[in-house]
Amino acid sequence: MGRVDRPGIQGIRVLTAATELSQFVRANSTVAAPPLCPEVRLHLAAQLTPVWEVLERRSGGNEVPPPYWACAWPGGQALARHVLDNPNLVAGKRVLDFASGGGIAAIAAALSGAAEVLAADIDPIAVAAMRLNAALNGTTFAITAEDLTQRADQRWDVILAGDVCYEYPMAEGVLAWLRGRFEDGALVLLADPGRKYVPLRGVTSLATYNVPTTRDQEAGDARRTTVYRLS
Ligand SMILES: C[S@@+](CC[C@H](N)C(=O)[O-])C[C@H]1O[C@@H](n2cnc3c(N)ncnc32)[C@H](O)[C@@H]1O
Repeated sequence: MGRVDRPGIQGIRVLTAATELSQFVRANSTVAAPPLCPEVRLHLAAQLTPVWEVLERRSGGNEVPPPYWACAWPGGQALARHVLDNPNLVAGKRVLDFASGGGIAAIAAALSGAAEVLAADIDPIAVAAMRLNAALNGTTFAITAEDLTQRADQRWDVILAGDVCYEYPMAEGVLAWLRGRFEDGALVLLADPGRKYVPLRGVTSLATYNVPTTRDQEAGDARRTTVYRLS
């Protein structure tokens, strides 16, 4: 990631009402298909930095998290592609898209016949974006802003986690929580384009994708992205 490596304070509420949140998403994005998943449509921003600057101005200069929801990250695209091409992984299953951003993996799971899908992201603007994105794709799934890493009482058959290894200590906490869910019996699929905190042990590589990216989002024009399963 480029500028988006800057740590943000998660959970700052710059916008409040649900309608205000969805108006913000609409006003700062266009509907487009992510390159690796042309069958999916999302509210995406051509550049993240201008959207982030609007959020910062609205927060009165306070630090706000980057608008991760406005981009389909390499990890999310690779996961969605993998699920769309291997629907048996999720068909009939209870699926969690953890740290879902704009919800690309949740949408892929819903389109692939998952019995239940929950998309979880702690950014309330991501929640608004996901509601819009779910409808764009004719899908329906549950969405929460709860930080699920604070609980261990829920069970899923499959957990999808795209691009969650970019920041410390977030990655450490998330990976420990995912490991716990794996030990509970979930199939945990993690997709990562070689970020700094991706685990080198306890994972098995399932597939690799070359994901086209923009210069605003990443350093190059494409990122080689691997889908792993925790093992
Ligand atoms: C780089 S984005 C990836 C989004 C999406 N998975 C994708 O690949 O397009 C990381 C996301 O993790 C979310 N996040 C960070 N910590 C989280 C937590 N504890 N629970 C849920 N979401 C979290 C952020 O709000 C952000 O939307």
